[in-house]
Amino acid sequence: MIKQKLVKDLVPKSWLDLSEINSIMTEVVIKNKSMLKTLDSYKDEFFARVDYTNPKYKMESKDYDVNIGPKYWSSDEHLKWKLSMQSTHTGFPEEHMACPMSNIVRQRPDLKNLETRIRDGFAREIGAHSAALLNYYPPTGSVGWHNNWNAAAYQILFTWSRTGDGYFKYYDTATKEVVTIPDVPGWQCRHYYFAGKDEPEEKHCWHAAYTDCDRLTLAYKFIGEAALALRGNLIEELESDE
Ligand SMILES: [Fe+2]
Repeated sequence: MIKQKLVKDLVPKSWLDLSEINSIMTEVVIKNKSMLKTLDSYKDEFFARVDYTNPKYKMESKDYDVNIGPKYWSSDEHLKWKLSMQSTHTGFPEEHMACPMSNIVRQRPDLKNLETRIRDGFAREIGAHSAALLNYYPPTGSVGWHNNWNAAAYQILFTWSRTGDGYFKYYDTATKEVVTIPDVPGWQCRHYYFAGKDEPEEKHCWHAAYTDCDRLTLAYKFIGEAALALRGNLIEELESDE
């Protein structure tokens, strides 16, 4: 079972004002050794078998201009622009540079079974409905501000970073401030709800990420009953004395 704590239990106070935590974004501490072993086995197999430095796997959105500076897409300035234009936002990350597993497998069919184990096998293991995203990010990899409002769901997101030189950001709609969660070397996990476009604006979860080192992201969706059960587990863990 997944153990979790609020982000306030995990981060130094120096870079995050605890009063600004958005309750919809929760950091999860994975203490389960067999789950960490499974995640490590996917990561180790990925880096052993994939020629991941090969630029042929890279996908860049059409508006993505690396000359602007790849960090721009996760900047406050870009968020401001996105918010001002939000009526036209699709929900998808409209600016990104990443190597999706699907694109790798398209060119390397021999990796299909690895992808299936990560996509379907791990989703089953954690009780998720399906995988939402499986990406490798090379250095300067980035996902620009977006809110996934086209696909309302609870999601759990596992990220692995080689050196921790990167970050995940989200916009706290209550305080109207950006919260930055630095990557750390190894696995991190967080859980949150993406509200649909028709839901109140304060529930929309704008987020972005950037990395200067190898990074993997595995995101899984929980819908309906499974989402409620997951929430129940998390609340249970929150109320425990651990
Ligand atoms: Fe996203």
